[in-house]
Amino acid sequence: MNALFLVLGVLAAVAAGLWAWRRWHPVSFWYGVGFPTRAALVYLTWHHIASGCRLTHNRRRLRLTLDAVPVLGSAARSGAAVVEQKRRVRRVDVERAPRLGLLRPTRLGWRMRLRLHDGQVPADYEKAAEGIAHAWRVHSVRVVDVRPGFVTLWATMRDPLTEVTLSHEPCELLRVRPGKLENGRDWVMDFRTVPHWLNAGATQSGKSNLANAIIRDLAPQPVALVGFDLKGGVEFTPYAPRLSALATTRKESVDLLSDLVGEVENRMATCRAHGARNVWTLPEDLRPVPVVVLVDEVAELFLMADRSEKDEVSKTATSLLRVAQLGRAFAVYLIVCGQRIGSDLGPGVTALRAQLSGRVCHRVNDPETANMTLGDLDPAALDAARAIPAETPGVCVVAGQDGSWHRARSVYVPEHEAEQAARDFAHLAPDWNALVGSVPAVRPAA
Ligand SMILES: Nc1ncnc2c1ncn2[C@@H]1O[C@H](COP(=O)(O)OP(=O)(O)O)[C@@H](O)[C@H]1O
Ligand SMILES: [Mg+2]
Repeated sequence: MNALFLVLGVLAAVAAGLWAWRRWHPVSFWYGVGFPTRAALVYLTWHHIASGCRLTHNRRRLRLTLDAVPVLGSAARSGAAVVEQKRRVRRVDVERAPRLGLLRPTRLGWRMRLRLHDGQVPADYEKAAEGIAHAWRVHSVRVVDVRPGFVTLWATMRDPLTEVTLSHEPCELLRVRPGKLENGRDWVMDFRTVPHWLNAGATQSGKSNLANAIIRDLAPQPVALVGFDLKGGVEFTPYAPRLSALATTRKESVDLLSDLVGEVENRMATCRAHGARNVWTLPEDLRPVPVVVLVDEVAELFLMADRSEKDEVSKTATSLLRVAQLGRAFAVYLIVCGQRIGSDLGPGVTALRAQLSGRVCHRVNDPETANMTLGDLDPAALDAARAIPAETPGVCVVAGQDGSWHRARSVYVPEHEAEQAARDFAHLAPDWNALVGSVPAVRPAA
């Protein structure tokens, strides 16, 4: 009896210890206990799960079998059926699961590499991913990193995007960290790698919040910020102290765009004169300040109330496209936000989209906008964007130029926080007149 109490006491102490470990230090608990247990279960059940998800293949194999063979002879003649067990080598079908590589822990789950059976393609695993996620009781399973003959599966135990918090570290030049990716890593937008971004989404989907996060991170950096806000300037006017120029009417936007085109051409001429391919290879004292251009609702730039605006609209479209085409090498970067980005806005929009290699698709209302934003990428990215629910604003699908995509969520940045950053770093806003030389400028009404 005493022994029983002792065992029960030890078990209770171990359970309480594990509970406290998990409660107070979840990270070390995951690596020390959670992950090894999960890994053992994954290996033990893999054959069964692969079979259920139709990922197994039958192979013909020679196997030693025990067969019942009727015995002919005196006993058989006497009327009784006599059988004898005989060993035989036979060809039998054996079901084989794809071979699992080493499971590697990640902060929110694990990664593992799989060897494809002959005739399998990565799309077979994308189709099976949801079934595998249910079998493993995890939030999601994604196929990442495809190499000839192999795929890597990435399992995430819980959705890291339900609550997004970030540590406050300063960002490097032309980098911002607006949120988190689904794999638990920070979402980093690096304008020097991906210069232009399209930020699409319905109203209340989180577009402005992402713009706030970007402005907050760029404000302390030595860059010029320029805004186009044709919805009366309500979005960007509060950030005017940190903006070097702001256009709120069509007339102003035509002038500001011609300033920008002029500036890009100046930079091009400087680079040519110094035999540099881009501004980063110029001598440091000649290197111009990077310009980040934010466009709030791009449709406003392309829509015209009547025919008299036709010339202005086509001028705007041409200039914006020119800035996008040349901006990368000459440190002029674009972030174009839009609720609806359809081909009905004119051919200029489609051409512009082709230049915006970074894509962020929030929840959208019409399939065409999702298609325009992500349609030329992986179809799975499009499905993920369509599945974004309205109750999680800020959740989006992010794609860079290498074709890979992630679910992500921006960190919540209320307007007053971005406005405060704009005021705190107002002294860093380069003067637009000085920046573009003698070209006429549009000053924001601070
Ligand atoms: N990343 C986020 N996390 C939490 N709440 C968010 C996030 N992004 C947006 N929101 C909420 O959603 C509301 C609408 O977002 P907003 O950026 O204004 O959408 P949009 O500009 O697309 O209309 C915001 O007022 C905010 O409360
Ligand atoms: Mg908005």
